[in-house]
Amino acid sequence: MIDLSTQYMGLALKNPLVASASPLNESMDNLRRMEDSGIAAFVLPSLFEEQLTLESVLIDQDLSRGADEFAEAITYLPNLESYNTGPEGYLELIRRAKQAVAIPVIASLNGTTLGGWVRYAREMEKAGADAVELNLYSMETDPHKSSEAVEDRYCELVRQVKASLQIPVAVKLSPFFSSMTYMAKRLDDAGADALVLFNRFYQADFDIESLEPEPRLVLSDPCELPLRLHWVAILYGAIRPSLAITGGVHSAKDVVKCMMAGAQVAMMTSALIQNGVRYPRRILDDLTDWTTEHEYESIQQMRGSMSYRAAPNPGAFERSNYMKMLSSYALRAR
Ligand SMILES: Cc1cc2nc3c(=O)[nH]c(=O)nc-3n(C[C@H](O)[C@H](O)[C@H](O)COP(=O)(O)O)c2cc1C
Repeated sequence: MIDLSTQYMGLALKNPLVASASPLNESMDNLRRMEDSGIAAFVLPSLFEEQLTLESVLIDQDLSRGADEFAEAITYLPNLESYNTGPEGYLELIRRAKQAVAIPVIASLNGTTLGGWVRYAREMEKAGADAVELNLYSMETDPHKSSEAVEDRYCELVRQVKASLQIPVAVKLSPFFSSMTYMAKRLDDAGADALVLFNRFYQADFDIESLEPEPRLVLSDPCELPLRLHWVAILYGAIRPSLAITGGVHSAKDVVKCMMAGAQVAMMTSALIQNGVRYPRRILDDLTDWTTEHEYESIQQMRGSMSYRAAPNPGAFERSNYMKMLSSYALRAR
């Protein structure tokens, strides 16, 4: 029987399948069902910096009734008071999740600015979280803000969250950096225990009749996986933090690819939403069948076997291959 166990940022997991942050993981029934069907850890949906800021705005507002500018500021925020039932509710969610399941529970904080709210990670730890995932989801629109300034702020944020905690800290990133490897190394130096590659941005479409932007959440597709495989394959062995893949993992073969690229865990949300919370059992059965058929004894044995350092053709990760691929594409006359 193959040994599916893996270590992820110091957490011992029974297999590499993790349910990434989504509202699915707010329901204790879902958590129990997913645990029964084999999932190895959960990431709770993110608590947003704006929710914490909103709480302090509301407190300030209480203290200074009549100051209209607070009321106006609040109308610009989406209804974050009820999402995750706010900061206090979030701590309760962690406590309930820890009671409901025996596997690790990772809390998630979404924020990108420095501030007192960062200390909230400490409250998450006290509530029982086994680790914190810092979800660096932000859309930089100010043309005067340099990429260096944004990256400095991210690293400082990681340093501050890390300084408040004893438990491990993962950082969930977007793929949009001029040098992903340099950024990964900087986050490593800032103390990140894991990098989660990559966040998906949910860009708004337009309605050309109403002339309104139309935010639309589209679930992922396996074709999103190669971008993640590519960067994990390059980063494997080059930095200290564990590597997680999120985005496009839909089958056991996708999990195998993640491990071969060098990831410690493969995360899923869209596939769980599409196939139900019992889907992990099917993935794990298929994973066991595939690995047995291919005579692997452990997940560890395949880890990194297709990474940049170990691949039979590392050039495939580089530009020469990009040119080769483009020039080999035969255009057919129509
Ligand atoms: C409905 C929904 C809600 C999500 N909420 C969060 C969230 O609160 N925090 C977060 O870091 N990611 C969130 N995500 C992103 C997922 O955790 C995941 O990274 C992304 O969906 C890509 O993985 P997938 O291809 O398995 O879906 C959400 C995704 C969906 C579909």
